[in-house]
Formats: sequence, C-alpha cells, structure tokens
Amino acid sequence: MTTASAGELLYEGKAKKLYATEDGDRLLVRYKDEATAYNGEKHAMIPGKSRLNHEISSLLFSVLEAKGVSTHFIERLSDKEQLVRKVTIIPLEVVVRNVTAGSFAKRFGQEEGIVLPFSVVDFHVKDDALGDPLATDDQLLVLQYAGKGELETLKQRALEVNDILKEYFADKGITLIDFKLEFGYTEAGELIVADEISPDTCRLWDQKTNEKLDKDVFRRDLGSLPETYEKLYKRLTEGK
Ligand code: TMP
Repeated sequence: MTTASAGELLYEGKAKKLYATEDGDRLLVRYKDEATAYNGEKHAMIPGKSRLNHEISSLLFSVLEAKGVSTHFIERLSDKEQLVRKVTIIPLEVVVRNVTAGSFAKRFGQEEGIVLPFSVVDFHVKDDALGDPLATDDQLLVLQYAGKGELETLKQRALEVNDILKEYFADKGITLIDFKLEFGYTEAGELIVADEISPDTCRLWDQKTNEKLDKDVFRRDLGSLPETYEKLYKRLTEGK
C-alpha cells in the first residue's frame, strides 16, 4: 500500500477532486458526495456517495486491468480516495449502448429497454457550456478533437471494455444497458481508460426485474441513491 497525500488541487469537477502528489506521474482522486444531473440543473449533497462510487470504480478498473485493459487506476488510498496515473484527457465522452435508454431513446423516439442488434459507440464532446453535444466522426475530425485512427482505436477499446463489463455484470444478474468512458494519454503516450466507471456513469438494470441500479434513481426521483448504490456494491462484492 502506497502512502500518498493530497498536494495542490489541480481540478474540481462535479463528482471528484484531483490533486497532485509527491510523484509527478501520479494523481490523487477524491470522490465527492455531490450528485448532479441534467447538466447541473439538478443538484444534491448525498452523504455516502463518494465512498460507494470510489469503491465500485476501483473494483471495475481492477476487473478491466485483470483482463489486460490499461486504466489509470493504481490503488485505493482511503474510503474515498484513489491513486491514479496522470494522463492528458481526450475531451470526449465515449458512450457504449447495448440497450435503448436515456438520450438515445429520447433522440430517436424509442422505448427504453430494446436490445440493440449490435453495440453502438457514440462520441460526445466534453463541454458543459454546450451540454456535451453528440458529434459525428466527421465533425470530430474537422474540429480536430481526434484523428481518424484515434477514433477507431477509441471505438475498438470501448467495445473491448463493453465485452468485459457486460460479462462481469451478467454474472451478477445485472444488464449493462449503457455506459460512458473517458480516455487519456500518459506522458509516455500510452492510451488508457481514465476518469471513473461507476453507477454515475453506467446504466445497470436487474436482469429479472429491470430495477434500476444506477444514477437514474436520482435523475428520475425513483428512490434513494445511496441505498441503490449500496445494493449494487453488495451484489458485486458479496453476490447478494
Ligand atoms: P445518455 O443516455 O444520457 O446519453 O447517457 C449514456 C450513458 O453515459 C449513461 O450510462 C450515463 C453516461 N453519461 C455520463 O456518465 N456522463 C455524461 O455526461 C453523459 C451525458 C452520460
């Protein structure tokens, strides 16, 4: 277990704070008890959320690492802090969808819960002021958010993560409906999965009942977020 302490605050987002450490290649992520939805329109302090997202994210990054996918995760440091590799983030949200839900269902007038014939990857530009707009490959290329080969690599890597996580959750009786990834480059130029993978960034439904085990309970006022995340965490760790 490494000891690392939080140095200079480098960045504060909606769900996490990022600090420098004594090691220039490593950063400390401290998860926050804040929940936001609809681009910050809905906002609440939720005690316990930081611990649960930190633990679930640590677990899912470890699942990916064990299957050979490089991520920024190094180790847990406390009940809400983790040590990660420093990367330069690509300013794109890479979304993978297995089943219709959320903005995809809304945009195309689809019911939620229809299994897609193949997994779809879509890119959103990370820009709160613009509401993280969906962008086509050509739009991303012309605006130089990424190169052609880079987009292909991101898609392929995201689908690889999808295969691993879909199987992992299915084993626990949970359907991975959709999720968002962020990627970054290390100083050495390695492309790795970064940010977080948690019920804030995934849609997860119970296979039998379709009960929502993710942030939609907060977005749509369907129940208690900490109770839902705790239930998910227990299912992942204790099979309960
Ligand atoms: P969407 O249906 O709202 O486009 O979301 C698709 C998935 O991506 C869902 O699991 C939530 C996740 N997501 C984020 O984690 N952050 C975001 O800013 C957005 C738009 C989606």
